[in-house]
Amino acid sequence: FFVLITSFLLIGCGEKTKKDNEEPLYPTQKSETPKNQIVINSNDQMQFDLKEIKVKPNTEVTVKLNHTGNLPANVMGHNFVLLKKGVDLVDFATQAASQKEQQYIPENTNDIIAYTKLIGGGESTTVTFTTPEKGTYDFICSFPGHYGIMQGKFIVE
Ligand code: CO
Repeated sequence: FFVLITSFLLIGCGEKTKKDNEEPLYPTQKSETPKNQIVINSNDQMQFDLKEIKVKPNTEVTVKLNHTGNLPANVMGHNFVLLKKGVDLVDFATQAASQKEQQYIPENTNDIIAYTKLIGGGESTTVTFTTPEKGTYDFICSFPGHYGIMQGKFIVE
Protein backbone atom coordinates (compact mmCIF):
# COMPACT_ATOMS: atom_id res chain seq x y z
CA PHE A 1 0.00 0.00 0.00
CA PHE A 2 2.80 2.43 0.91
CA VAL A 3 4.57 1.73 -2.37
CA LEU A 4 1.42 2.55 -4.29
CA ILE A 5 1.05 5.93 -2.60
CA THR A 6 4.69 6.80 -3.23
CA SER A 7 4.51 6.10 -6.91
CA PHE A 8 1.31 8.09 -7.12
CA LEU A 9 3.08 11.08 -5.60
CA LEU A 10 6.03 10.67 -7.94
CA ILE A 11 3.83 10.68 -10.99
CA GLY A 12 2.05 13.74 -9.67
CA CYS A 13 5.32 15.56 -9.09
CA GLY A 14 6.68 14.52 -12.46
CA GLU A 15 3.73 15.97 -14.29
CA LYS A 16 3.84 19.18 -12.34
CA THR A 17 7.54 19.67 -13.04
CA LYS A 18 7.05 19.07 -16.73
CA LYS A 19 4.26 21.63 -16.89
CA ASP A 20 6.33 24.23 -15.02
CA ASN A 21 9.16 23.81 -17.49
CA GLU A 22 6.94 24.25 -20.50
CA GLU A 23 5.01 27.29 -19.36
CA PRO A 24 7.77 29.96 -19.49
CA LEU A 25 8.39 29.10 -23.15
CA TYR A 26 5.10 30.55 -24.36
CA PRO A 27 5.58 34.23 -23.39
CA THR A 28 9.10 34.12 -24.88
CA GLN A 29 7.87 32.78 -28.20
CA LYS A 30 5.10 35.36 -28.37
CA SER A 31 7.41 38.32 -27.77
CA GLU A 32 9.77 37.10 -30.50
CA THR A 33 6.99 37.26 -33.09
CA PRO A 34 5.49 40.75 -33.00
CA LYS A 35 2.08 41.41 -34.46
CA ASN A 36 2.06 42.14 -38.19
CA GLN A 37 5.58 40.91 -38.78
CA ILE A 38 6.66 40.26 -42.35
CA VAL A 39 9.71 38.04 -42.72
CA ILE A 40 11.86 38.38 -45.83
CA ASN A 41 14.81 36.10 -46.39
CA SER A 42 17.74 37.04 -48.60
CA ASN A 43 20.74 35.00 -49.64
CA ASP A 44 24.17 34.81 -51.30
CA GLN A 45 22.45 34.43 -54.70
CA MET A 46 21.27 38.06 -54.49
CA GLN A 47 17.63 37.10 -53.97
CA PHE A 48 14.70 38.06 -51.77
CA ASP A 49 12.28 35.18 -51.14
CA LEU A 50 9.27 37.52 -51.47
CA LYS A 51 8.25 39.32 -54.65
CA GLU A 52 5.03 40.63 -53.21
CA ILE A 53 3.98 41.81 -49.77
CA LYS A 54 0.34 42.61 -49.02
CA VAL A 55 -0.60 44.80 -46.07
CA LYS A 56 -3.43 46.98 -44.80
CA PRO A 57 -3.17 50.79 -44.89
CA ASN A 58 -2.25 52.86 -41.84
CA THR A 59 -1.14 49.81 -39.85
CA GLU A 60 2.01 49.34 -37.85
CA VAL A 61 4.08 46.54 -39.39
CA THR A 62 7.52 45.14 -38.73
CA VAL A 63 9.65 43.91 -41.61
CA LYS A 64 12.26 41.42 -40.52
CA LEU A 65 15.06 40.88 -43.03
CA ASN A 66 17.20 37.77 -42.68
CA HIS A 67 20.38 37.11 -44.63
CA THR A 68 20.69 33.34 -44.82
CA GLY A 69 23.97 33.37 -46.74
CA ASN A 70 27.60 33.46 -45.61
CA LEU A 71 29.06 36.39 -47.53
CA PRO A 72 29.86 39.60 -45.61
CA ALA A 73 27.94 42.86 -46.04
CA ASN A 74 30.67 44.55 -48.11
CA VAL A 75 30.43 41.77 -50.72
CA MET A 76 26.78 40.65 -50.61
CA GLY A 77 25.07 43.27 -48.48
CA HIS A 78 21.30 43.39 -48.31
CA ASN A 79 18.81 45.88 -46.98
CA PHE A 80 15.09 46.50 -47.35
CA VAL A 81 14.22 49.91 -48.75
CA LEU A 82 10.58 50.85 -49.31
CA LEU A 83 10.19 53.70 -51.78
CA LYS A 84 7.49 56.31 -51.86
CA LYS A 85 4.96 56.22 -54.64
CA GLY A 86 6.18 57.84 -57.85
CA VAL A 87 9.87 57.50 -57.03
CA ASP A 88 11.83 56.29 -60.05
CA LEU A 89 13.41 53.03 -58.99
CA VAL A 90 16.40 53.24 -61.35
CA ASP A 91 17.14 56.87 -60.48
CA PHE A 92 16.95 56.14 -56.78
CA ALA A 93 19.09 52.99 -56.97
CA THR A 94 21.72 54.78 -59.05
CA GLN A 95 21.94 57.59 -56.53
CA ALA A 96 21.97 55.15 -53.58
CA ALA A 97 24.78 53.06 -55.08
CA SER A 98 27.27 55.91 -54.63
CA GLN A 99 26.45 56.35 -50.91
CA LYS A 100 28.66 53.64 -49.43
CA GLU A 101 29.32 55.59 -46.22
CA GLN A 102 25.55 55.83 -45.59
CA GLN A 103 25.02 52.10 -46.21
CA TYR A 104 23.59 53.01 -49.65
CA ILE A 105 20.86 55.26 -48.26
CA PRO A 106 21.12 58.77 -49.73
CA GLU A 107 21.48 61.43 -47.05
CA ASN A 108 18.42 63.62 -46.46
CA THR A 109 16.43 61.65 -49.01
CA ASN A 110 12.72 62.25 -49.31
CA ASP A 111 12.14 59.13 -51.41
CA ILE A 112 11.93 56.49 -48.67
CA ILE A 113 9.06 55.30 -46.45
CA ALA A 114 11.18 52.86 -44.42
CA TYR A 115 14.52 51.08 -44.59
CA THR A 116 16.68 48.68 -42.65
CA LYS A 117 20.40 48.75 -42.08
CA LEU A 118 22.66 46.81 -44.42
CA ILE A 119 23.38 43.25 -43.28
CA GLY A 120 25.68 40.40 -44.28
CA GLY A 121 25.40 36.61 -44.11
CA GLY A 122 23.94 35.22 -40.90
CA GLU A 123 22.56 38.56 -39.76
CA SER A 124 19.01 39.82 -39.24
CA THR A 125 17.51 43.25 -38.86
CA THR A 126 14.06 44.77 -38.45
CA VAL A 127 12.27 48.01 -39.17
CA THR A 128 8.86 49.01 -37.80
CA PHE A 129 6.76 51.61 -39.54
CA THR A 130 3.18 52.60 -40.31
CA THR A 131 1.98 51.53 -43.73
CA PRO A 132 1.03 54.29 -46.20
CA GLU A 133 -2.24 54.81 -48.04
CA LYS A 134 -3.55 52.22 -50.49
CA GLY A 135 -1.41 51.68 -53.54
CA THR A 136 1.50 49.70 -54.90
CA TYR A 137 5.00 50.60 -53.78
CA ASP A 138 8.43 49.28 -54.75
CA PHE A 139 10.86 47.71 -52.31
CA ILE A 140 14.46 47.06 -53.21
CA CYS A 141 17.90 46.23 -51.89
CA SER A 142 19.96 49.37 -52.54
CA PHE A 143 23.37 47.65 -52.50
CA PRO A 144 25.07 48.47 -55.83
CA GLY A 145 23.78 46.29 -58.66
CA HIS A 146 21.23 44.41 -56.57
CA TYR A 147 17.96 46.23 -57.29
CA GLY A 148 17.55 44.64 -60.74
CA ILE A 149 16.88 41.27 -59.10
CA MET A 150 16.23 42.27 -55.52
CA GLN A 151 12.97 44.13 -55.91
CA GLY A 152 9.33 43.49 -55.21
CA LYS A 153 5.94 45.06 -54.78
CA PHE A 154 4.63 46.29 -51.44
CA ILE A 155 0.89 46.30 -51.96
CA VAL A 156 -1.30 48.28 -49.56
CA GLU A 157 -4.94 47.29 -50.03
CO1 CO B 1 21.42 43.09 -51.67
